[in-house]
Amino acid sequence: MSNKLRPVRGMKDLLPEDFYHQDEIVNTSKRISELYGYKPIETPILEQTNVFARTLGDNSDVVSKEMYSFEDRGGDSITLRPEFTASIMRSFISNSLFHDLPLKYFSSGPLFRYDRPQAGRQRQFHQINFEYLGAEGPLADAETIKLAMDIFDSLGIRKDFTLELNSLGSNESRQKYLDALREYFTKYKSDLSEDSAKRLEKNPLRILDSKDEKDQEMGRDAPLIHEYYSDECKNFFDDLQNYLNIFNVEYKINPRLVRGLDYYCHTAFEFTTDKLGAQSAIGGGGRYDALSKIMGGPEVPAIGFAAGIERIMLLRENYKSESKRPITIIPIGDENIEYSLNLADKLRDSKKQTILIHKGKIAKRMEKANKQNAKYAIIIGSDEIKAGKYNVKDMDQGIEKKLTEQEILEL
Ligand code: HAM
Repeated sequence: MSNKLRPVRGMKDLLPEDFYHQDEIVNTSKRISELYGYKPIETPILEQTNVFARTLGDNSDVVSKEMYSFEDRGGDSITLRPEFTASIMRSFISNSLFHDLPLKYFSSGPLFRYDRPQAGRQRQFHQINFEYLGAEGPLADAETIKLAMDIFDSLGIRKDFTLELNSLGSNESRQKYLDALREYFTKYKSDLSEDSAKRLEKNPLRILDSKDEKDQEMGRDAPLIHEYYSDECKNFFDDLQNYLNIFNVEYKINPRLVRGLDYYCHTAFEFTTDKLGAQSAIGGGGRYDALSKIMGGPEVPAIGFAAGIERIMLLRENYKSESKRPITIIPIGDENIEYSLNLADKLRDSKKQTILIHKGKIAKRMEKANKQNAKYAIIIGSDEIKAGKYNVKDMDQGIEKKLTEQEILEL
């Protein structure tokens, strides 16, 4: 096959079996989120570039390296969404929904990040995503995490991962922590990787998230965030843990968990697994109380999370869709097509999947019926129409019966 006919690197076709799998994951998540009061929302796949550039952080990998941004024909800078959170906040502000808080939104769909493709990492990928706007206090954080757990439970993957939890503190205590980190890493400035050296001034927190081994080594003795918590931060985090205990949610505190996007404060969490090689995060999220204000809206406490559908699919590798078994209609001779079409109509009206196979030798058509995994094949000839009884072959048992139209509709 010609190379030209491949999809764009890092993007995949969703063939029917995967499509069914993705649908099941989306529908399960949507159904369970509705039990918590979430409603579905869809925002455009394209946004003005500043929706993401200002909010996710100039020094985050997503903004500095991974965005699909381009100028449209009107000269505006446009970006294919790399995540949902900023789009949903943009929608909340554009639609002036300030008086409707709290709002809980479920979304799913494709996202785009120009990263190096590998198993579990694509340039077009899909998420299930949950945002809770107007989320006051740590109980909202605990409920959000519990929602994730319920969904993973229903999808049969809760046993496959660890919930890692951290608090990034309030914006004020994080400022103090950033100063301390800056001072600490400045000692190693000349040894830091190029990316980390760039991050030293603007957001040294990112250095803790570096994949570079030498950076990681230097970060080992770096100060930890909890040394900088105010009483308020500490109480918030303690309360969250108490609520998680009430919900029976197990977690592991990871004081180095910083997340890859800049808008988080207080709660940050990630669901990690050792079953997907280098791609350990199935999902993650956290609190983003400052985002609305950064985007020009009012102050709105908020929390949310997202999980990668492709990674969930990899964990559920034994998934098989509930296969639909059609009834096939095989008309013999063109004069019987009209009756066959009418019968197909009636079968479909009674919600039965029906496939017409109207060309070729009968034996070949029976083979095609078999390939379609048909439950029955109905042969329609002129004699049958006259007699009002039709040969119906049960494809599993290989036996034929003569049935009336009414009996066929009741199959
Ligand atoms: P994130 O951690 O960037 O968070 O992405 C969430 C999940 O999306 C990841 O854990 C991973 O499973 C999946 N994912 C990310 N990039 C890729 C990729 N290139 N290929 C396949 N899967 C991928 C966010 O996006 C935040 N907006 C989550 C959030 C919602 N925070 C608050 N509300």
